[in-house]
Amino acid sequence: MKGVILGGGTGSRLFPLTKVTNKHLLPVYNRPMIYYPIECLVKSGIDEILLVTGGENAGDYLRLLGNGKELGVKNLHYTYQEAATGIAGALSLAEDFADGGPICLVLGDNILEYVIKKSVDVFRARPEGARILLAQVQNPQAYGVADIDGDRVVNIIEKPKNPKTNWAVIGIYFYDNSVFEYVKKLTPSARGELEITDVNNHFIKAGKMAFDKVEGWWADAGENIDFYLQSCIRVSQTGANHPVD
Ligand code: DAU
Repeated sequence: MKGVILGGGTGSRLFPLTKVTNKHLLPVYNRPMIYYPIECLVKSGIDEILLVTGGENAGDYLRLLGNGKELGVKNLHYTYQEAATGIAGALSLAEDFADGGPICLVLGDNILEYVIKKSVDVFRARPEGARILLAQVQNPQAYGVADIDGDRVVNIIEKPKNPKTNWAVIGIYFYDNSVFEYVKKLTPSARGELEITDVNNHFIKAGKMAFDKVEGWWADAGENIDFYLQSCIRVSQTGANHPVD
């Protein structure tokens, strides 16, 4: 299974830190933010990776990451999203790279205490439909929020004002290749983006969505300056991307 990491977007919530650089190139403790999702995939057994860049500083990725070998990537591919059309818009650029197979999509500002090898292995063994990861948070209104019934996700609402649960959908998603056909049918949301939550609700409605609960802490380092700082502190205290026994 191949991996797709998103490193585009505008980084507006971390402005002015992101005025002259890409959010994912900012340091999180002692390494650039983008190292963490790359390392997460590599340590989880995915080493064929497409990085979707964007914005005015995309060339800096190449200077930083080169061919990716230093981080254990077998083949690092790059593409460029011309406008921040949303997560699902960025995903659509990966269709040729996926080459008919399943993919694991990772948002470049998501950092985890433990790797996701168990979920990767499960989806690789049966790459059908979709699989998401959920984490309990104190500020669910900032995320896609999942309504769960037993072992089923019944609905996801993007940034709800009155969240029904505190289960956030984190920025790591597994999809079979049908996702690329569905993304073509999407229309922009009220905030003008092609929403990954619409993609996930499509798989839920089709009865093809599974989920895992995240082990350890999860951080969306791009959420705002306080969460960015908290991510730096967490990484400094525990490290990130540890193997799970
Ligand atoms: O972090 C998890 C959350 O990520 C989910 O719970 C939400 O359902 C999902 O919509 C997303 O919400 P955010 O508001 O945090 O998304 P954000 O705009 O920060 O973009 C997430 C990442 O995707 C970020 O690393 C930049 C990248 N991106 C974003 C957009 C809009 C792109 O590469 N291209 C884009 O057009």
